[in-house]
Amino acid sequence: MSEIRVCGYRPLSGEIKIQGSKNGVLPMLAASILQKGTVQFTNVPIIQDVACMVGILEFMGCRCRLEGSRLSVDASEIEHTQIPKEDVGKMRSSILVMGALLGRKKRAVTWYPGGCTIGSRPIDLHLKAFSCLGVQVKEEEGRVEAFADTLNGSRIVFPFPSVGATENALLAAVLAEGETEISGAAKEPEIESLCRFLNQMGADIRGIGSGRLRIRGVKELHGTEFEVPGDRIAAGTYLIAVAAAGGEAGILNAPWEDMQEVVQVLRAVGATVEPFSGKPKRAGIEIKMKGRPKAIHLATGPYPEFPTDLQSPMLAVLTRAEGTSIIEERVFEARFKTVGELWKMGAQIEIMGNRAVIYGKNRLRGTDVKAWDLRGGAALAAAALAAQGETRISDCIYIERGYEDICRDLRCLNGAIERLSP
Ligand code: EPZ
Repeated sequence: MSEIRVCGYRPLSGEIKIQGSKNGVLPMLAASILQKGTVQFTNVPIIQDVACMVGILEFMGCRCRLEGSRLSVDASEIEHTQIPKEDVGKMRSSILVMGALLGRKKRAVTWYPGGCTIGSRPIDLHLKAFSCLGVQVKEEEGRVEAFADTLNGSRIVFPFPSVGATENALLAAVLAEGETEISGAAKEPEIESLCRFLNQMGADIRGIGSGRLRIRGVKELHGTEFEVPGDRIAAGTYLIAVAAAGGEAGILNAPWEDMQEVVQVLRAVGATVEPFSGKPKRAGIEIKMKGRPKAIHLATGPYPEFPTDLQSPMLAVLTRAEGTSIIEERVFEARFKTVGELWKMGAQIEIMGNRAVIYGKNRLRGTDVKAWDLRGGAALAAAALAAQGETRISDCIYIERGYEDICRDLRCLNGAIERLSP
């Protein structure tokens, strides 16, 4: 069983370059199916979820070549329109291939991706978007088949700015007949990078960065080259680890402009956070943290609010705060699973509905804990670095789905952390 060992109670220091964005590259890989040539990506994160998505693309008929962080996808031949069931179970974002298959082949078959430890995660908004474009959707015993003679531009209105549903609507609309307007669209930076990538392939998307996207369908798309932006959630995780353990660090290639809410929250708990002085703002972010964090009230929400993916890591910081903090989780209905593990480390946290009340105390103590999900596992690594003694985190395979090598990165920041078993 995969396990990480951490010896805590040591301030962090050093500098790392952040990996490419997991949540940025996954929809772009799905989008590669829309063109009949080759796309070349650079700065691709080397993580499980990318390997899984590449496997799906190859199953569909793509020829992929991954060399370090460079990935090429030749999508000239797409033979299949059914996403392998085992991949759907492994990775929820396989659902994004649906929109691309509909755009390219006007047919897609998948299965309900099912819930996970952070919530039920339905796909009703994805399917509603497809239906607006004239797609027929048949659901039977968890199997979902979507098909259309032609996709016709339409008006899609999302009651909630779902990231995945916005991405799927974009993928299905770029080759549709006529114009599509998506209102209530998600505004995450990953949506913006997807739109820039699609437009580089010849799509016609306007209103990028706003909640109202207008897409004029085009006849076909062509290959291109694209650099995956730095991962704002991975960068935020490491900044938060410094806020938890104390010390100072530089995170190269962290997208400063896309992390303003995270910067404000880190400053509120008492950290000094600035873009690298003297370099262009996108060069990265530096953080300094001395003493115990200050208690705060924090709510997660759709971008540009505080990202739900950094909620668990912030729990780790606030377990040490001077005073009582509150975190309100407004995106997922069950994203406090990691609290149970922090309790084992001596944290005092009460869950009341979608709120966590955290009674700060000086230090946590190292012990054996378990990762229940990707970001919860990363939160435990941050808590362990701040704790007294040794912590062992089991099931760290979850963490590898989204972080290239959390042990490598935190060791570069002077963290005493290692992976124990293969
Ligand atoms: C994306 O998930 C991210 N994943 C998540 O990151 C992130 O937490 C989430 O967006 C919110 O920012 C990827 O990009 C691969 P949503 P997604 O659709 O698209 C409900 C990580 O750790 N909803 O914005 O699945 C849903 O249940 C992962 O990297 C519906 O009700 O998120 C949730 O409560 C975790 N019906 C809320 O909307 C739908 O059809 C937000 O979900 C779709 C979603």
